[in-house]
Amino acid sequence: MAAHFLWRLAFLLLVSLCLIPERALGGKTRHYHFDIQYQNVTRLCHTKSMVTVNGQFPGPRIVAREGDRLLIRVVNHVKNNISIHWHGIRQLQTGWADGPAYVTQCPIQTGQSYVYNYTIVGQRGTLFWHAHISWLRSTVYGPLIILPKSSVPYPFEKPYKEVPLVFGEWWTADTEAVINQAMQTGGGPNVSDAYTINGLPGPSYNCSAKDTFKLKVKPGKTYLLRVINAALNDELFFSIANHTLTVVEADAVYVKPFETDTILIAPGQTTNVLLKTKSHYPNATFFMSARPYATGLGTFDNSTVSGILEYEVPSNSLHSAASMKKLPLFKPSLPALNDTSFATNFTNKLRSLASAQFPAKVPQTVDKHFFFAIGLGTSPCQQNQTCQGPNGTKFSASVNNISFSLPNTALLQAHFFGQSSGVYSPDFPNSPLIPFNYTGTPPNNTMVSNGTKLVVLPFNTSVELVMQDTSILGAESHPLHLHGFNFFVVGQGFGNFNPNKDPANFNLVDPVERNTVNIPSGGWVAIRFIADNPGVWFMHCHLEVHTSWGLRMAWLVLNGKLPNQKLFPPPADLPQC
Ligand code: C2O
Repeated sequence: MAAHFLWRLAFLLLVSLCLIPERALGGKTRHYHFDIQYQNVTRLCHTKSMVTVNGQFPGPRIVAREGDRLLIRVVNHVKNNISIHWHGIRQLQTGWADGPAYVTQCPIQTGQSYVYNYTIVGQRGTLFWHAHISWLRSTVYGPLIILPKSSVPYPFEKPYKEVPLVFGEWWTADTEAVINQAMQTGGGPNVSDAYTINGLPGPSYNCSAKDTFKLKVKPGKTYLLRVINAALNDELFFSIANHTLTVVEADAVYVKPFETDTILIAPGQTTNVLLKTKSHYPNATFFMSARPYATGLGTFDNSTVSGILEYEVPSNSLHSAASMKKLPLFKPSLPALNDTSFATNFTNKLRSLASAQFPAKVPQTVDKHFFFAIGLGTSPCQQNQTCQGPNGTKFSASVNNISFSLPNTALLQAHFFGQSSGVYSPDFPNSPLIPFNYTGTPPNNTMVSNGTKLVVLPFNTSVELVMQDTSILGAESHPLHLHGFNFFVVGQGFGNFNPNKDPANFNLVDPVERNTVNIPSGGWVAIRFIADNPGVWFMHCHLEVHTSWGLRMAWLVLNGKLPNQKLFPPPADLPQC
């Protein structure tokens, strides 16, 4: 009798669990499968075998809702080690799923697999995922789209359609060979051969017209473009001829809408814009084009990528398919390659929505101040070698003069298992050990030091970080990306940061909240965030060449006291080094 009763109880429990609506449980569980495999891809009349996810280029689109849990099984079928990063996902308590190789995990080796398991908490908007080891992200990337919870509308007009626009960078050569060679010689790596929109270089390159992204639209509609810069080394201006864009979101956070003809987007940044199409069929087609914003001294790919905005012929009209072919074509005019005043104006317009529903929770007080000097430097050439960096040295890059070396094991594992000795030290300097005139005459000694040092933060520390560009090897804008957090961009300026004057002008009301911010060329930027996520969090320049040269560091945020303030234990399938 008793056993029978228990069975019935268990059965009823099971049934009722299945009947609880998805929202009450917080969200759905969504499964994805990523096979890391070779695929032949042809661009610019050249076929190369490259590393892809599921043979797709760009990779598959992940679509989820706020509150959902994602289980993404990654199986490595190629010779390279691999890891995948979910760029911009907070990873609350799930640092094991963040992805940067040798930071939160050992890479997934050939023949092995790993399930990335995390829940999307309090975030909605456009992000992306990409490989996070060496330069494999040049071919391994794709959109990560988080829709609002069902029945929660956007804080702007409901779009007729949503279209991801992913910028990438294409090398005819194998990018692993490109970066390996550069690291050996100490010189700058070869620049890319083309930029791409959704994997397609478009008509401005040789042998490429058939590989053109076309956006077919109807008149009088609003389209939501989810713009992602997955290029490796270049910030991009983007514009659509004869059309205005309304910016509504940056890095998966709503902003106060504003109109612009051109947007600026750095690698690692994402932006949602509304495109209102013309109310009547315009008898023309329009280029949408992107080209770099470049501030450094080095060479860069200064080509322009274009796609086509094409109005579908209304079915009841006189426009025949034949007349369409002869339509005039308009091209957008983009800012000059080094137009820093455009860049400044544009970034100044970005403000948090800061509404009742989407408040800007800007930290009003600061527990710990940090000042990081960020830029390029040099490291010595080995004996009997000739190096191709400045004055026969090797290019290097640093934060507070430390060029960060990745360990042979993962930092998070070393921390969690109490095995940090010989892996990292907890003494990253709060400010440069030897202050200098960061944006003035370069110092005589441009050599950086090497190390694996972390900043250690108690749980819930309120952090203010000023990042100062250095002009040691020429001023340059650096898009700095912080894993595991969004931060508020409370201030920015040119020249050297003045701690006595500049904080008075900080915006603590509606600063933009994001995960990747540009340090202005020859200037500084101030950010604030609360260290409310235990784990090891990478921070680096999202110009991949600078990351390779060591422009990276990591924060170690300790557990808090409450159960929901502690890092979860590592999953059983966490890769070993
Ligand atoms: Cu999108 Cu650590 O990078």
